[in-house]
Parts: sequence; C-alpha cells; structure tokens
Amino acid sequence: MAEPAIVAEGVSKVYPGSRSGAPALDGLSLEVPRGGIYGLIGRNGAGKTTFVRIAATQLAMTSGTLRVLGQDVRTEERAIRARIACVPQESRPLYFLRTEEVVYLYLKMRGMTSADARRRTHDALEELSLLEVRKRLVSRLSGGLRRRTLCAMVLASDADVMFLDEPTTGLDPLARREVWEAVRRASREHRTILLTTHYLDEAEALSGRLALIERGQRRLEGTPAELRARVRYPYRVTLWGDVPRDQLASYGAVSEIEGGFLVFAREPEARELARWALERGLRLSMGPVSLEDIFLEVVGRSIDADAPLAEEGAEA
Ligand SMILES: Nc1ncnc2c1ncn2[C@@H]1O[C@H](COP(=O)(O)OP(=O)(O)OP(=O)(O)O)[C@@H](O)[C@H]1O
Ligand SMILES: [Mg+2]
Repeated sequence: MAEPAIVAEGVSKVYPGSRSGAPALDGLSLEVPRGGIYGLIGRNGAGKTTFVRIAATQLAMTSGTLRVLGQDVRTEERAIRARIACVPQESRPLYFLRTEEVVYLYLKMRGMTSADARRRTHDALEELSLLEVRKRLVSRLSGGLRRRTLCAMVLASDADVMFLDEPTTGLDPLARREVWEAVRRASREHRTILLTTHYLDEAEALSGRLALIERGQRRLEGTPAELRARVRYPYRVTLWGDVPRDQLASYGAVSEIEGGFLVFAREPEARELARWALERGLRLSMGPVSLEDIFLEVVGRSIDADAPLAEEGAEA
C-alpha cells in the first residue's frame, strides 16, 4: 500500500495575536489516501483554509505533525512544494498577463518542457472553456473567468497533490461542472486532490471521502455512504398536504416546510410513515439524507450545545 498523500496528527494552530485565543485548528487528525478526491467541509471559520495552508507549506502550525507524500511539512517543505499545486481561497492570477500566459508560465516555472507546457495549456484552457479568452489580459476578465484561469493553471500541472480551496466559488452552474470534470480527470491520473467547498452537492458529487470540520476539530470522516450511516436519522421523508403535526412526531424529527412537512427518520419509521401517508392519499417523497442534511444536523447540534460534540458516531 502506498503511503497516504497527507497524514495529519494532532495538528493545532493558534494565530499569533488571536484575541479570543481560540485555536483555528484544535488537534486535527486526518488521513488523505493517495489518489482520488478528498473533500473538506465545515462552516465559515471552521479551519479549512488554515489546514490547507499548513499542508501546502504556506503557514506554520503551532503543534502536531503533518506529512505530505511522506515528507514533513516542517523540515522538507522544498521537496513538498515541487510536488504540490494550490488554488488558494480568494486568489487571483496576475493582472498584467494574458490568460494563456498565466497557465503556460506556471507550467514552465514548474520545470515542464516548452512543448509539454504548450500542449497542456491548450488542453486545460479547452477543458475549462477558456480558449476564446486565451489572448485576453487577466485584468479584463470577469471574476469567474479569473477563478477558472487559476483552476486551469493548477489542474494542468503535473503536481501529485492539488489543493483546491473553494475552487468553484463564484462560478456559474455550467462552469462549475466543467471544473468538476477537470478535477475528476486529474484525479484519474493518480493525483490526489484536496478540495474545500461550501457547495455540498459538489462535495458529494466529487469526493471519495470527506471530513467535516467544526471549530478546528474533525466531527465526521468517511465516504458519503459512511457519513450517512453515522447520523441519527439517515432518511428524509417529505409530505405535502394537510396533516396534523402531532401525528408525525413519533416517526422522527419533524419540521414544517411550505405546504407540508419534512421528517427525518430511521429506516423502519420512514417506511412506516410512507405507508401511513400513502393510505391517506398524501403526496410524498422519500430518500436518503443529503450531505447538506448531515451538515445541518451535526453542525446545528454543535451550535445548540455550544460545547464539543460527543465522540463521532456516538449516535449510531
Ligand atoms: N491570518 C489570520 N490571523 C488570525 N486569525 C485568523 C487568520 N486566518 C484565519 N483566522 C481565524 O482562524 C479561524 C479559521 O479560519 P479559516 O480561514 O481556516 O476558516 P475556513 O474554514 O477556511 O472558513 P471559510 O469557509 O470562511 O473560508 C477563524 O476563526 C479565523 O477568524
Ligand atoms: Mg476558507
């Protein structure tokens, strides 16, 4: 078995001058397998970018250990840098370059031959529908086109590990899907991609494994199916029509939605509820919970309790 792409053990980060003194990362341990797409999710301020920056050797951690491709980020950052590429959150390509120059020069700087760099620049621009604007100055591109240019730059590279911190924020739905395809293509070439996103449909569509981070700690980790199996209520049943709410309470957690109810339930109760509703001629839909439901449940409970959650999986 190849060593994992990233192994983090007890990683903590306290930013100097942090007023609250609260750590941005608080003993975070993670193992990102070699090859494939690993999703990192969590609400604003959870610590995702901090983790990405430490793993990408841009930021020093306060304590813990972190190895990327078997090498220590504290002592072997030069070796690591040669093998990784990063789309940082909120970054923009250099304004005074043309779109194709951004990609081409990046590949050349990484040591690619001119012929390879030219070919890969063309392919990446084509993949992300940027060929039309390849001669345009970055300063004259829209925000979404600039973001896509950065994605093209990193995804065209030969890096073994790619860090994509919210790569699709601000992209239109079509462009997002183009980035998804490019990310999938890169992952099929035996690269490892660490992706952060607030679009949970994106995290679910792309990630082989996921970690949910909350207040610098890991709350859930696993494949999307494993995450589903760990939550209290793995099924969601939506009912439309006039139903007395108190008749639903015994099936699971009920909330009101426009024109009906949403019930989160365990499998037997979900089936029973569906039967009950069908007998009454109610319209319903039933399915497994989405990643968004899981996120809201886990993070919502953590905010309610205002205290660390029980051990992950304790509810299962
Ligand atoms: N340079 C910094 N100096 C001080 N505190 C910081 C700095 N960068 C981030 N923080 C704090 O560290 C915590 C984690 O921030 P981080 O940017 O890692 O979160 P995130 O999960 O990426 O959030 P988002 O989804 O909003 O991008 C936050 O409380 C934030 O305020
Ligand atoms: Mg961030």
